[in-house]
Formats: sequence, C-alpha cells, structure tokens
Amino acid sequence: MRQISSITELRDQLRGQNRVAFVPTMGNLHEGHMSLMRIAATHGDPVVASVFVNRLQFGPNEDFDKYPRTMQEDAEKLEKEHVYVMFAPTERDLYPEPQDYRIKPPDDLGGTLEGEFRPGFFEGVCTVVTKLFNCVQPKVAVFGKKDYQQLMIIRRLVAQLAMPIEIIAAPTVRAEDGLALSSRNRYLSEEHRAEAPFLYQLLNELSNQVKTGRPNLDQLVQLEQDCAKKLVSRGWNPDYFEVRRQADLQRPTNQNLSDQTPLVILAAAKLGQTRLIDNLEIN
Ligand code: PAJ
Repeated sequence: MRQISSITELRDQLRGQNRVAFVPTMGNLHEGHMSLMRIAATHGDPVVASVFVNRLQFGPNEDFDKYPRTMQEDAEKLEKEHVYVMFAPTERDLYPEPQDYRIKPPDDLGGTLEGEFRPGFFEGVCTVVTKLFNCVQPKVAVFGKKDYQQLMIIRRLVAQLAMPIEIIAAPTVRAEDGLALSSRNRYLSEEHRAEAPFLYQLLNELSNQVKTGRPNLDQLVQLEQDCAKKLVSRGWNPDYFEVRRQADLQRPTNQNLSDQTPLVILAAAKLGQTRLIDNLEIN
C-alpha cells in the first residue's frame, strides 16, 4: 500500500486508473470503516481510502482537537484489506489556502436534523468530499448508512453537480449489543457504554410501533415524544428522535403514513459529553 499526502503525488499514482473505488474517512478506523473497504473492493479496483480529519465540518465547540488520530494503526488495517493507496493529506496539502469556495447543501436537507444541531457541518462535509472526489476521481464511492443524512446529502450533491461517481450505501456495523460502531464510542465511560445500546433498542421499539400500530401524524408525534422522554429519564440528553421519509428526509404526511411510504427513524442524543447518532429504516 502506498501512503500519500500530496495531491500531485496522488494524481501520479492513480494516472490511468478508471475504476477506482473510494472510501473517505476521518481515520481511527474500526470494523464499520473496514466493511466499507470490503464493499468498495466488490465495486471497483483499486480501492483508495482517505484519512483526513476535516476542520471545516467541526463547530467551534466540537471535538476537532480531541478527535482521535491513529495514523499508524489505520495504515496497518488498510494494508491488511489490500487498499492500494491511503491518501492522508495534511491540512496544508488539502487546504493550502483558506477554503473560501464552499459547497452548501440546500436547507431542506442540510439545515435539518444534524444540520440543525451542527450548523455548517454539512457544508464542511460537502466541501471536503467534493475536493476529495476531485483529487481521487473515483468511479464509485462508498458511504455508511450510519450517517444516513450525510449519505443522502452526498447522493444529491453528486446528482445535482453531475459528478460521474456512483454512490454505494453500506449497512451499519454494530457491536454485539447493538451499539453502532463509531470513533466517538471510545469517549464513553464504562457506565455510559453499558447504557449506549438503549438508543438502538428504542429505534427498534418505535419501528415496531409504527409498523404494527399504523399511527397517524399526531399519534406519531406522541410516540416520538415518548421516546425522547424515555431517553431523558435514563440520563440522556436527546437532540432529536424523529421519523422521516427515506427519499428526502422530510416529515411524512398522514398520506405517507397510511400508504407505507418508506420511512426512517433518525436519532441523536448525548450521553455525558458524548454525542451518539443512529438510525433505523422502517421497511
Ligand atoms: P467517518 O466518521 O470517519 O466515517 C467514514 C465513513 O464510515 C462514513 O461513510 C460513515 O458513514 C462510515 N461509518 C462510520 N461508522 C460506521 C458503521 N458503524 N457502520 C458502517 N459505516 C460506518 O463520515 C465521515 O468520516 C466524514 O464526514 C467524511 C465523509 C470522511 C468527510 O470528512
């Protein structure tokens, strides 16, 4: 595996490759990331992974400085998966001058849910992903459903800007107790780690209620609020716990609820200082 930090060197290394499968990451790789590498290998060749902690997508009070950086371990893991190039630019490589040109998603998609609680987050994500796409010029790119809204936003970005890149969605990899794997799980205390799977249990509970109870919109709001209350009663601090339409992440109408439009429950909540997000498709 080649470990490359400069854009010029990356271009030299990838010259003539027209089936590249790309997996962008912020490193501190876990099994969730590694599953994306394996999926990428079934859609293209060679596989290129990027490791870059993108300052643009962190808010002023978020964990940019604290975000775990484990470059050596990451390189070893990628090597084992036969990744061809690990593109790990420094900030000076990727942002040699202030990144004044930005890609901002529309408010309906980028200003809600995560976007409401993390202003500027999706602008930072779309800007870096566009730039990484321009560096790597992949044929396909793989994103995890763990970050459901991010995946939808990237899909629409690629479609609207006519980027010739196929976006592949990868299923969420979970620990045995159901907790979605995340680099941020390492911040959890032992007690909070034991509590953390409750978020996924609650997603399943609400999913079953929606499937069997066929609620109307008012009843759905009640069910969502009950979930949030349960979280609060167990010491969580929920940002949102909401059912949305899979296709555009907007609120379902009564019609959507009765005609079985595909829905997804999206949740974000803090446990102590750690903010966890998860989601579950209702099919
Ligand atoms: P990061 O959080 O490192 O995630 C990289 C990719 O791994 C994303 O597509 C994410 O959805 C996926 N992923 C994370 N945990 C997963 C899990 N448990 N199961 C399946 N996939 C999982 O997402 C980012 O980085 C950044 O925003 C990025 C797109 C790289 C732009 O900076």
